[in-house]
Amino acid sequence: MNREDFPLLKKDIVYLDNGATTLKPKVVIDKMNKYYLEHTANIHRGDYDLATKTNELYDNVREIVREFVNCDYHEVIYTSGTTMSLNMVVFGYMRKHLKKGDEVLLNKGEHASNVLPWIKLSEEIGIVIKYVPLDKNYELTLDNIRKCVTKKTKVISLAHVSNVIGDVRDIKSIGKFCKEKNILFNVDGAQSVPHMKVDFKDSNIDFLSFSGHKMCGPTGIGILVGRKELLEDMDPIFLGGGMNNYFEEDGSYELKEVPTKFEAGTPPIAEVIGLGETIKYLMNLGIDKIHKYEVELKKYLLEQVKAIDNLIIYNKNSNSGILAFNIDGVFAQDTAVYLNHYNIAVRAGNHCTKLLKDEIGVKNTVRVSIYFYNNKEDIDILVKALKNNKDIFKVII
Ligand code: ALA
Repeated sequence: MNREDFPLLKKDIVYLDNGATTLKPKVVIDKMNKYYLEHTANIHRGDYDLATKTNELYDNVREIVREFVNCDYHEVIYTSGTTMSLNMVVFGYMRKHLKKGDEVLLNKGEHASNVLPWIKLSEEIGIVIKYVPLDKNYELTLDNIRKCVTKKTKVISLAHVSNVIGDVRDIKSIGKFCKEKNILFNVDGAQSVPHMKVDFKDSNIDFLSFSGHKMCGPTGIGILVGRKELLEDMDPIFLGGGMNNYFEEDGSYELKEVPTKFEAGTPPIAEVIGLGETIKYLMNLGIDKIHKYEVELKKYLLEQVKAIDNLIIYNKNSNSGILAFNIDGVFAQDTAVYLNHYNIAVRAGNHCTKLLKDEIGVKNTVRVSIYFYNNKEDIDILVKALKNNKDIFKVII
């Protein structure tokens, strides 16, 4: 779909590393260039026309995000990306509200950004991290979550779509369960928001994090959506210009209202504007259409690779555009180098999901991650290379 919108696709490349980052359509690049070429100004500080135009464009992106994920305007915070958003939740909200012995449920399919901040918080205040076991397909289910919940469970924190297995967690049911049990529900949407409809309110999410660069947008910009009453009781982890009403010599100060109190310093203005353009672009394409297309393309890929007898696939069943595999007996990185020989870009390694090895029994995998601009020809080129994998060492040495 829409390949002509992506300048990089004019090159002879098969880009299948969309879980890591995505390509950018020309409209997004043009929108950011326009800010730099025609109306550069800081935001919320200038009393001249250039600044007014920039303010309008910048502020309006909150409205675009609001519509995209169904939250309120004041619940949208600009961050540098999912990692920063998740750290803000843990060190801005959880550090203030959790206490020693409180339990947080994670699972071993989570990315470092949704594990390490919790480990650090556990070091600091003694919260207890419990890992919900994955099922036989390495997927996370509500049934397994239920089995791990105790009276001390205060938070369930998970990726909506995991970044290696690509399982789509049932956040609507999990959110409902959290609400019933009065458990905070923290969702890492980095691998889902770009690919499928995510409804913040309808899924009873308390905090939702995602990144611009994984959805055809710029790097350096992400979003944290938080329930307003929680945000009002959350501390900013950065303080500085733009987010305070006053501060005095005696140490008294007052912060601005949500969300401005979380946005200290000059923000990534071009990137915010670029993100708005990206989201409009995705909404025009149709987010449900994107998801359906990617799942179909993964099915096509699975059909084609069935015949390759030395391929170990870890996630045949997961309902997203992610395929994790290894060639039997071949180090994942060697496979990636081999595929690169044919201009095919995939990611190999542990994908920052370093605990998954305890579930799948292997540290490193090769990951193909599809986006809507991939097509059957991309898959055919990949499959052809994989079918010839007996040549792998001849090619890479
Ligand atoms: N989190 C990104 C990935 O899964 C970088 O590749």
